[in-house]
Amino acid sequence: MSTNQIPTAGKNWFSNIQSLSNNTLDFLMDASRDKGDVIKINTGIKTIYLISCPKVTEEILVKQQKSFKKSEAYEILKELGGDGLISAEGETWKRKRVKMNPAFQKNAIKNIFEEMEECVDEFIIDLQSKKQIDLDRTMMDITLKIILRTMFGNQVQIDSEKIYEDLTFSLEHIIKKFWNPFYALSANWNGKNKSFEESRQRFDDIIFKLTNERINMPEEEKGRYNLLDMLIGAMNDEDKPFSLKDVRDEVITTMIAGHETTASALSFTLAELCKHPEHLSKAIEEIDTNYTDNVSGYQLTEKLPFVKAIFEEGLRMYPSAWSIGRIPLENVEASNFSFPKGSDIAIFISGLHRNSTYWKKPDTFDPYRFYNGDNKDMHKCQYVPFGAGSRKCIGNHFAMAEGVLLLAKMLKNFNLELVDKNVNAKAVLTLRPTQIIRANISAR
Ligand code: HEM
Repeated sequence: MSTNQIPTAGKNWFSNIQSLSNNTLDFLMDASRDKGDVIKINTGIKTIYLISCPKVTEEILVKQQKSFKKSEAYEILKELGGDGLISAEGETWKRKRVKMNPAFQKNAIKNIFEEMEECVDEFIIDLQSKKQIDLDRTMMDITLKIILRTMFGNQVQIDSEKIYEDLTFSLEHIIKKFWNPFYALSANWNGKNKSFEESRQRFDDIIFKLTNERINMPEEEKGRYNLLDMLIGAMNDEDKPFSLKDVRDEVITTMIAGHETTASALSFTLAELCKHPEHLSKAIEEIDTNYTDNVSGYQLTEKLPFVKAIFEEGLRMYPSAWSIGRIPLENVEASNFSFPKGSDIAIFISGLHRNSTYWKKPDTFDPYRFYNGDNKDMHKCQYVPFGAGSRKCIGNHFAMAEGVLLLAKMLKNFNLELVDKNVNAKAVLTLRPTQIIRANISAR
């Protein structure tokens, strides 16, 4: 079979490493725009295959998914999330995913929606006293509270500030240790490793305590169903039941996977809306007409199709999970390209979502792309903010319901105005704003 040559992007490996560490996103975006949507970049130790092509993405994530494993970057999450869904592989992953899938289906979101909504209402009340907010920090705050509430319910008091602090520090620590050998070495004596161990211990203590309390709680005191009930339910399965450690791993993994991703997407989406009054006023009109108290669960996204399209467009331009890493388990041919066994493949979602072969004016924020079925002719891997194939995000319906709910409540209650309209993204673990996004806020 004839195979296409894969063009090499960038300069020499040393300059490539510098560009990757100084400005990952722009470097990769420029490389894929200049050299094509399947390229390779030499970084000295390894060659990265960068994919921004829908067909090759489909081959890797869907059609030939069995020939790939997740990249090393997911391994580092194990330090915190253990064998949680995001980094588990093989039978361990399958067993967990099968048990957890039902709780995250579209129709199951209604079971946790009341908890989500109550949490957002309290947040809206808190915001009423503010005149200016750091948009990103505010979204980080509420998305973490939502994860904690839907996981543990409203009966327990949790110090979300401390959890935020521990989570932020721990993730930063393990990522720095992975990328920076000097940081990894010095962490042994400058106390960073010790602080990480202490944070991890605090997570374990609180999760084990709350799980045991819930297990021993009389049925009539339990109140609403929450995600912990689903995990505890899996402990009672006859077939390969969850252990307490499995429950702990999935609680932390849900926090890692579902908090910053949703917060970043919402911050960028709200910032874009502030810059586009024409879309903002249409969204407000839709919310004022269709958002009534008896709309709940995933139904909300159906009642507010324009707000949903806005969030989808936000996720197109700013996909929080900006890259998905895979390693071929054997030599693989995909759409006439060859990928050697053991190579590093990055499905570059930001590149896919701004690939001008598939998107008109890819750098323009235009929610109409996703409105009124305008997206029906899209290639199925042209837009993959939640990934694709069997490893697709388990929380995608959760995130869509949460995103639409938060946008609807924010726009219903407040006017927002950016202090500085210059909002840019950088690629860290997720896509993050390069600087604080300050917004003036007032009651509507
Ligand atoms: C806008 C928000 C979100 C985005 C953009 C996002 C994106 C993604 C992507 C791209 C993947 C696939 C990674 C891969 O194939 O390597 C993924 C996996 C995952 N996500 Fe999300 N996610 C979001 C929200 C959530 C939420 C709210 C939760 C939980 C409540 C969650 C839990 C997970 C888990 C557990 C996995 C691993 C699934 C598996 O491998 O079986 N995510 N996410």
